Amino acid sequence: MSLVQSLRDSIHQQALDAFLVTNQENRTYLSGFTGSSGWLLVTEKKANLITDFRYYEQAVLQAPEFQLIRQVESLSQTLQNQLTELSVHRIGFEQDHMSYAQATALMKANPEVEFVPISSLIEGQRMVKTNEEIAKMQKATDISEHTFLHILGFMQAGMTELEVSLEMERYMRKQGADGLAFESIVASGPRSSLPHGRPTERGLAEGDFVTLDFGAKYQGYCSDMTRTMIVGKPSAEQLKIYNIVFEAHMAALNAVRPGITGKELDMVARTVITEAGYGEYFGHGLGHGVGRNVHEGPSCGKSGLIALEAGHVVTIEPGIYIPNWGGVRIEDMVLVTDEGYKNFNHTSKALIEI
Ligand code: CO
Repeated sequence: MSLVQSLRDSIHQQALDAFLVTNQENRTYLSGFTGSSGWLLVTEKKANLITDFRYYEQAVLQAPEFQLIRQVESLSQTLQNQLTELSVHRIGFEQDHMSYAQATALMKANPEVEFVPISSLIEGQRMVKTNEEIAKMQKATDISEHTFLHILGFMQAGMTELEVSLEMERYMRKQGADGLAFESIVASGPRSSLPHGRPTERGLAEGDFVTLDFGAKYQGYCSDMTRTMIVGKPSAEQLKIYNIVFEAHMAALNAVRPGITGKELDMVARTVITEAGYGEYFGHGLGHGVGRNVHEGPSCGKSGLIALEAGHVVTIEPGIYIPNWGGVRIEDMVLVTDEGYKNFNHTSKALIEI
């Protein structure tokens, strides 16, 4: 069944005449159109893409399932004309992806139309990946893994975090990445206790943990992985912390299967870390869904109430962060399958000395 047809089923269930898609990623997901501006208007019979002059040609090429509606003065005015033409009385809209000003203006301009605020309709659909999406996410992961292997040979003591992150970006783009899934995290030494440490001019020094958390974007789809390395030899304490995180990571990984909730999965890793005495130093959730956005549903943190299903893609990334000392995080991205899971990542998770 096509993605648009699945959306139509939801439209039907909610007794709507139409659904308006204003979020850019949702728009691309449903239509294939990658332009920066445009709205989708889907009804029982029509699938229309409203965009402006800059994108007419592109829209026809990229979104063959959609009919191009040429924008008049504004998106809102064009929508208004469409609502009249298609006799829409009750339309759902993405309340999380429209400003208050936009929504109130639309309602005011179309007093005879009922606007129904809806959350996560397409995001819910997006959680279960198609084979085509999975293939793109594997390619995005392959790019980041090749980059990791390359960077292992590139990194050395004295080099700054910024130099490392620049080389990672260059290497990902050289392999065909559209761009970065997110700004790479390169955090060394005491800075490795910052879960989201942006690279700085700090130079890598002997005895540093170095955490790399990065991902590529390939044809709109993200990868996300984290590895922590050591410059030189680890101390006994560093090795101990690393092994606890590794054990928590493996325990959670092996618990991935359909039916388990993100919260339960988080608890599997959290129990390992807490029993080792470091529970207070694991201050974030275990993981998150990934797709067109690097952070999307389903959550694998304490608020993860959605049961995993085959086709979901989630990260498993426990960590321990000790202020002014350093930290460790290990992250893989996995596909939930009927049997359990399939790992997108294949590179080693042993503590690598550089
Ligand atoms: Co992540």
